Amino acid sequence: MYVCSNCKTEFSKWLGKCKNCGEWGTVQEINLNASPFLSLANRTKKNINNQFKKNVSAIKIKDLKNDFSSDIKSNIYEFDNTLGGRMLAGQTILLSGAPGIGKSTLLLQLIDQFSNQGKNVLYICGEESPVQIKHRVDRLKLKMLNVDFLSERNIDTISFFVQSYRTDGRNFDVLVVDSIQTVYSESLSSVNGSVSQVAHCTNNIVELAKSLNILTFIVGHITKSGLVAGPMILGHMVDTVLLFEGSKYNDLRFLRVLKNRFGPTDSVGIFRMENEGLKEVLDFESLIKHKKIEDSGLVFSMVNDGNRQMIVETEALVSKSYYSNPRRTVSGFDLNRLFLLLAVLEKQCGLKMYEYDIFINIVGDVKVSDFSLDLPVCLAIISSLYSLSLPTDSIAFGEVSLTGRIKKTYMHEKKVQEAIRMGFRSIYSYENLKHVKNFLTELKI
Ligand code: TYD
Ligand code: MG
Repeated sequence: MYVCSNCKTEFSKWLGKCKNCGEWGTVQEINLNASPFLSLANRTKKNINNQFKKNVSAIKIKDLKNDFSSDIKSNIYEFDNTLGGRMLAGQTILLSGAPGIGKSTLLLQLIDQFSNQGKNVLYICGEESPVQIKHRVDRLKLKMLNVDFLSERNIDTISFFVQSYRTDGRNFDVLVVDSIQTVYSESLSSVNGSVSQVAHCTNNIVELAKSLNILTFIVGHITKSGLVAGPMILGHMVDTVLLFEGSKYNDLRFLRVLKNRFGPTDSVGIFRMENEGLKEVLDFESLIKHKKIEDSGLVFSMVNDGNRQMIVETEALVSKSYYSNPRRTVSGFDLNRLFLLLAVLEKQCGLKMYEYDIFINIVGDVKVSDFSLDLPVCLAIISSLYSLSLPTDSIAFGEVSLTGRIKKTYMHEKKVQEAIRMGFRSIYSYENLKHVKNFLTELKI
């Protein structure tokens, strides 16, 4: 099998240029014989007789006791809460996110809390040297009393080190591998970060975590397109997948759960990246103060990004046109969709849009193909046209039909939930507005 190291697309034959992402020289052969799955299958076959001889026994649920002693809390509320209030010994958590978003910073702050609780922590630093980490630890003013740093990339050496390590007869309680893309196994010929290496090393780490009951964090960078670099199978191997993301334009960071075997998947942790590390954003009202709508033509909206919801800012500028063909310019929004919405505003709301040049900008460099931007675009246009700003805690989302009616969009309830959680109090949507022209009535126009 051949896999592109850039976009992870699989091919049956070798190609010089990846058909999917267009990169040259990125398609590499994956040696299936060295794949962890096949070797596991072989292992099972070989040892099958021995396996039968082993003493194994099944157990009934009623005979099991609730073991709350293995519950682990970091005491960083936003983190614990996102994971459903607790973590378990032996749990494997993949922390994914774009490079530079703050994954290492978050984990350093997290393990300092564990260390303060007297837990033994091992941090595998494949990305930075211990000296570089020391600089950061000093900057973050962390103590790190019970944390050992190991600068090693060979997975077998790491495995051996963890298995043979004991302090006070105890093994490590928490393990961090930063990042999975840097570790490798000598048993595979492919380079670090390749699909087979990432899969093989993750498999080893998960086995290690389960056999020694160590709460384990694995850092995984994601590609620009939002995929966890190294395949989706990585997500299947671990118990929990977290995505740490933020905007390029502000210091807010969102911790989302994409998968969780032991808790909910719909909670979001909010942090702010400051000079001295990540600070929890506990009062969501402050978020809104941070994002004050003072300008006319600015509307916040909640859109779907895959299964997630995120806030985008919609800006419109409507100015008197001196051209025979008024100008319409869009950035981050579909031009044809704008033509349609302008026709709706003309016909259904009686606005003379043909007299104005109109510019639309979706701030945040996002490519959204979600009709829920229809309503915020219409509201932003009206707001700019009449030089009126919307209430400071308002947000809008909904599809606008050709008749001007506002329709519900995919995952509407989740958007409402997320908007309320973010501190928005007046939500413009199909439920309260019903028709675009009702907004004009509301503004008393
Ligand atoms: P980092 O945790 O190294 O990101 P990742 O591990 O996801 O690649 O974060 C690096 C960025 O965070 C870098 O741009 C600097 C910034 N930063 C702060 O703003 N404040 C801080 O206290 C720290 C430690 C980093
Ligand atoms: Mg890092």
